[in-house]
Amino acid sequence: MKQNLYDNPEFFEYYTRLRESKITFNDFVEQPAFRSLLPSLEGKRVLDLGCGSGQLAAYMLEQGAAQVIGTDISTRMLSLAPQHPQIEYIQLPMEELDFPGNSFDLVVSSLALHYIEHYEVMMQKIADWLKDGGQLVFSTEHPIVTAKLDKEGWIEDEGGERLYYAIDHYSQEGIRRAHWVVDDVITYHRRISTLINGVIESGLRIDAVLEPEPTAEGLEKMPQLVNELRKPSFVIIRASK
Ligand SMILES: C[S@@+](CC[C@H](N)C(=O)[O-])C[C@H]1O[C@@H](n2cnc3c(N)ncnc32)[C@H](O)[C@@H]1O
Repeated sequence: MKQNLYDNPEFFEYYTRLRESKITFNDFVEQPAFRSLLPSLEGKRVLDLGCGSGQLAAYMLEQGAAQVIGTDISTRMLSLAPQHPQIEYIQLPMEELDFPGNSFDLVVSSLALHYIEHYEVMMQKIADWLKDGGQLVFSTEHPIVTAKLDKEGWIEDEGGERLYYAIDHYSQEGIRRAHWVVDDVITYHRRISTLINGVIESGLRIDAVLEPEPTAEGLEKMPQLVNELRKPSFVIIRASK
């Protein structure tokens, strides 16, 4: 099932304001680690799956990429993206994209693949789209986070102090429905082994796996990020063809 959450006006307004604050998990946990895994971008042709408002696309251009194709299911997110002659945007669910084989030097996807139902199919397509020697860098919500059904997550004492993070239903892969600003937000839970084996079975070679920790600046500006040292929120994988 494909859900276009980011075109929901209420969710879009919340998410846009959050990202504009620049005080987010993206700024201080996920993106610093993600960017640390990017190869040299000089002259590269890059595909960004689930590019959102194009911040990563713009960054990659600044770093010397020759061309970036940013794709996203959400019209509203793409309406925020910076226009540039070397960036082309495609508004489509990534499951429906079709490129010739050997098209890209680099495929990136930041925090979008947990919205995709058929992960292995997507991995196979990415592997085909990459040129020989090309690379994939993607992040997704950590399986520790996506596993939860209703009642797990942070368990707090009566004063609201976080005691521990409870996980259950880890092996029960598949759809999760949660409340995040709006009801019925759909993501897909996959075990860490499934994430890793999906890459391996596509024929790519895994080069690095990160479970990112907050930056020092992040810990200062968002003290609650100390909890990332107790429970990672994201996993980032780099692989090559
Ligand atoms: C958490 S945001 C991340 C945006 C961007 N990658 C970033 O890091 O700033 C997730 C993005 O994935 C997009 N998305 C969700 N499902 C998608 C799908 N099936 N195909 C393409 N994009 C999708 C959303 O519209 C949203 O822009």
